[in-house]
Amino acid sequence: MSSFLHQRTSHNSFSEPYPISPRSSANYQRSIALFNRTGLLVLLSLLVVLGVFSPWFGFPEGLFTSSRVSLSKWRDYTLSEAVSNVAKNGTVIVCAVSQPYLPFLNNWLISIARQKHQEKVLVIAEDYATLYKVNEKWPGHAVLIPPAPDAQTAHKFGSQGFFNFTSRRPRHLLHILDLGYNVMYNDVDMVWLADPFPYLQGEHDVYFTDDMAAVKPLNHSHDLPPPGKKGRTYICSCMIYLRPTSGAKLVMKKWIEELQAQPWSKAKKSNDQPAFNWALNKTAGQVDLYLLPQAAFPTGGLYFKNHTWVQETKGMHVIIHNNYITGFEKKIKRFHDFDLWLVDDHALESPLGRL
Ligand SMILES: *[C@@H]1O[C@H](CO)[C@@H](O)[C@H](O)[C@H]1NC(C)=O
Ligand SMILES: *[C@@H]1O[C@H](CO)[C@@H](O)[C@H](O)[C@H]1NC(C)=O
Ligand SMILES: *[C@@H]1O[C@H](CO)[C@@H](O)[C@H](O)[C@H]1NC(C)=O
Ligand SMILES: *[C@@H]1O[C@H](CO)[C@@H](O)[C@H](O)[C@H]1NC(C)=O
Ligand SMILES: *[C@@H]1O[C@H](CO)[C@@H](O)[C@H](O)[C@H]1NC(C)=O
Repeated sequence: MSSFLHQRTSHNSFSEPYPISPRSSANYQRSIALFNRTGLLVLLSLLVVLGVFSPWFGFPEGLFTSSRVSLSKWRDYTLSEAVSNVAKNGTVIVCAVSQPYLPFLNNWLISIARQKHQEKVLVIAEDYATLYKVNEKWPGHAVLIPPAPDAQTAHKFGSQGFFNFTSRRPRHLLHILDLGYNVMYNDVDMVWLADPFPYLQGEHDVYFTDDMAAVKPLNHSHDLPPPGKKGRTYICSCMIYLRPTSGAKLVMKKWIEELQAQPWSKAKKSNDQPAFNWALNKTAGQVDLYLLPQAAFPTGGLYFKNHTWVQETKGMHVIIHNNYITGFEKKIKRFHDFDLWLVDDHALESPLGRL
């Protein structure tokens, strides 16, 4: 088939580029014009190929605007359009990503693709570069909810910019619940080893994991744990599953309120997690909460630090979170050391391919 196409193309375009004896001058001119057009096309395609595959050739970005025009349509893509395009079975899996985290996004996506749940992943892009990159490779799977946070300040863990950026999460999640969908939120420094959906049993409003590293018995309670040292729990805001119930919406509203009541300060350098824990504490009586099993959803403070426990619970792990460590390079190294850095050898399993 391909050789057939190839023959046809080469015959039509190139068999007689220079007719030796033109049948008439009009014909001759037409064939010159034709050749010029073909030649121009060839030249243009060559430029496109070089431009696309060899950024170091240094073609100005605006030279070929067609892909830009088609990309710019994603500017107006709304959360509600995105969710209705991506959701499967009334469920969507979301993450929030800025450009420096694209390698982590890809790593996480490979692990989700292995569990065959990638089709319902929606990337909430925190900058336009991420929006365009993801949608270029995987149309419709990224959305940007304006305004985009300031890229310079949003990345540093513990900074006010980072706080501002993570504070947007409960609003996005509430919006998705208001649209009537189940939503799973994940940080992208996670790796799935198994399918988490069978663990989202029953009809609870909010499912979450404990960020405490202390070992619990395998048959631990699924209730909200008792408060810890700071008077609050240490539930992780990194992995949350919500059903579109009034209870789940109440928790999101409370989370937004708590973030407003306790804004970022230099002294505390907080992130969004304490506010989430206060929201759970204050709504616990009215909402059906469900603590997921530790053996399946361990904090990084346990999984990466207690080899004995990992051996004891072998085969039970479902989602691994690379937390209890800060710094990009350290996280990558740790994933590497534990054979959880999949992007180097398995990028083609990602719906984004190699980035
Ligand atoms: C869709 O959801 C129903 C009920 O939640 C579940 O039983 C079923 O397995 C799901 N189907 C798919 C294809 O995920
Ligand atoms: C964070 O948000 C606050 C309140 O909206 C704003 O005043 C501040 O400038 C923002 N800071 C950064 C670094 O984005
Ligand atoms: C867990 O199992 C132990 C011993 O098998 C038992 O004593 C305990 O009550 C159980 N805890 C829960 C929460 O079921
Ligand atoms: C909420 O926090 C307060 C203060 O730490 C604590 O006394 C109370 O038991 C908590 N409530 C729940 C349901 O965890
Ligand atoms: C590590 O895990 C083992 C086995 O579960 C447990 O007995 C031990 O207390 C844990 N160590 C720490 C430091 O938590």
